[in-house]
Amino acid sequence: MPHLSQALQRIEASQTTAMTDRATQLREEGRDVISLSVGEPDFATPTHVIEAAKAALDAGATRYTPVPGTSALRAAAALHFKRDLGIETEPGRVIVTAGGKQAIFEAILATVSEGDEVIVPAPWWVSYPQIVRLAGGRVVPLRCSPSRGFRFTPAQLEAEIGLDTRWLLLNSPGNPTGAVYPAEMLLGIAEVLRRHPQVMVLSDDIYAPLSYTGAPHATLANLCPDLADRVLTVSGVSKSHAMTGFRIGVATGPAWLIEVMGRLQSHNSGNPAAVSQAAAVAAFEGPQDFLGEWREVFRRRRDLVVDAINAVPGLSTPVPDGAFYCFIDAAPLMERFGNDEALCLHLLEAGVAAVPASAFGWRDGFRVSFAADEKVLEEAMARIAAALR
Ligand SMILES: Cc1ncc(COP(=O)(O)O)c(C=O)c1O
Repeated sequence: MPHLSQALQRIEASQTTAMTDRATQLREEGRDVISLSVGEPDFATPTHVIEAAKAALDAGATRYTPVPGTSALRAAAALHFKRDLGIETEPGRVIVTAGGKQAIFEAILATVSEGDEVIVPAPWWVSYPQIVRLAGGRVVPLRCSPSRGFRFTPAQLEAEIGLDTRWLLLNSPGNPTGAVYPAEMLLGIAEVLRRHPQVMVLSDDIYAPLSYTGAPHATLANLCPDLADRVLTVSGVSKSHAMTGFRIGVATGPAWLIEVMGRLQSHNSGNPAAVSQAAAVAAFEGPQDFLGEWREVFRRRRDLVVDAINAVPGLSTPVPDGAFYCFIDAAPLMERFGNDEALCLHLLEAGVAAVPASAFGWRDGFRVSFAADEKVLEEAMARIAAALR
């Protein structure tokens, strides 16, 4: 019997990764499976980023760097926060991490103790509750109704805040729902936060460039400068620049928090890979015009998937405003399948990998990613329709 720490016994492996792994296994066995379970853009990483990585290797970017990142990347990230999110910061208040995930992990591990509460809006990104539990914290779910576009209200937030609340995790555009919080909603949330100075906000803006509302991205640290020293904003290049494999995330917030995250990182991974950091400098400082084109392609794919899903009896989905996921309600089919995991296994047999809603703190549905070619999406939608007929 392996001996597991109490901390590890509190967490489970990521269900999104599990479904992707199962789909890969079936494919290796020769089965024709379309994977709509992954959370990464299917576009090629921009050429100028690849060239920068190659040049960096030739120039000797093969060694340790400072733990919180190279000064070049911290400066480029500060530029990104200002230009793309409207957040005033400086390189000294930026930390570079191995993916956005590590930034979130470090912020929670560095600040949450046994008994502390963290408010996590549901449906949630799979890692949020697991990270909170690993730290010994208690997850306080905030159920976001589809009728309100999967967004919580200030009153809902107010009702869940207590003296032990340490963090609110805010993700816009959100995974798995694509929900986007417009400025006026954030201002309402800020009103509540002002009454509770013990609560910090982790604003996960990693999908910010992938919003289809046409409105500029709204984020708390920009909208409410009086709250900025209580907000950690997380961003990166994984989703916006199709660089998931480079493993680079960036975060900015109060100096004390950036310092303790660095302290943790110094004993964990140390610095993110030197070559990846050089590539991320090129991503932030190089041309951004390809993003407009990507957004347009994603928007077309989104419309294709939303129309196809809503045409299947028993399935329905709101139109996601951002990111590249549709969060689909399948409640009318639960009598037939029992639960959403059984439904997803049925879809997998029919050749489509999707992730059950239960992985995201929800139920009776599933998430599909539309980060795939239109022809592939059409085929996947046809398979789903046939499998549920
Ligand atoms: C909401 C959200 N935050 C953070 C991340 C982490 O991204 P990264 O690959 O940069 O660690 C993801 C990735 O799926 C995500 O969906």
